[in-house]
Amino acid sequence: MSKVRKAVIPAAGLGTRFLPATKTVPKEMLTIVDAPVIFYVVEEAVKAGVEDIILIQGRGKTAIEDFFDTSFELEHKLEKDGKIHLLERLIKIREMANIISIRQKHPLGLGHAVLCAERVIGNEPFAVLLGDEIMVPQSEMNTTAKLTQLYGEHQASTVAVMEVPETDLNKYGVADVETLSDGLFRVKNFVEKPAPSKAPSRYALPGRYVFSPSILNLLKNVKPSINGEIQLTDAMNELCHQEKFLATTFDSKRFDAGDKLGYLKANIELGLIHSEVKDDLKIYLKGLISRLDGGTK
Ligand code: G1P
Repeated sequence: MSKVRKAVIPAAGLGTRFLPATKTVPKEMLTIVDAPVIFYVVEEAVKAGVEDIILIQGRGKTAIEDFFDTSFELEHKLEKDGKIHLLERLIKIREMANIISIRQKHPLGLGHAVLCAERVIGNEPFAVLLGDEIMVPQSEMNTTAKLTQLYGEHQASTVAVMEVPETDLNKYGVADVETLSDGLFRVKNFVEKPAPSKAPSRYALPGRYVFSPSILNLLKNVKPSINGEIQLTDAMNELCHQEKFLATTFDSKRFDAGDKLGYLKANIELGLIHSEVKDDLKIYLKGLISRLDGGTK
């Protein structure tokens, strides 16, 4: 079966980089303009043809499920008040995908989080989208859609890669690649968070993957490595030695919304394309820049 119908979104992390906000609000529920981070991630998967979203959650994350559920009282009130535009938006969000929620009972790492979805995935290819990375598409095809299309064409697991400065390589999984065509590579090895001097390339993994189901068996046998966690990248390294594994560049703008600066940038970039605020935001930013250039506050 080649169509990618399922996506796993690991969202169990504690969000310590965003404390104190994340003491009570899951980092995936922080707002970008007028929707939570997780909305943009689920939207990307759905636009790529995914029907079932498997959320891997930890304790205190029920707000994420509630966001994709019906809020009877709210919908009733919006209807009564004639706020049909808002009502339609809420209905569209709760209808956009079938949300399946699984608890990761122990924080054993990203690889373990993906393995928690095993029973729901079965023997199908599936996508993985990290729950705090936002990809703003710059063309018709979003990053996950590009990966699912390549999976369909090549019947091979495919991962998104981006070139990062050498000094940032130790923050990411990194792919050792052989170029097939412009922006398309065959992966020879993966390594998680290498020291820059030991990194095989500057192609880092931004958090978008499509896997053949074989990854699940490999994950079961992966031993904890960096930070004592079961690393997804270690299983990917095994898989690329057993099956064809592709990597592709992408044209979306990527924001790490789990990081303060990335989060602020995502708000600005998405504000600049939001019909209600874009014009005023542009005027504000221009004024701000000229004030900063002029040295005044
Ligand atoms: C995880 C993955 C890493 C990937 C990164 C993208 O690391 O393990 O391979 O490059 O996400 O953000 P983390 O950021 O959870 O440490």
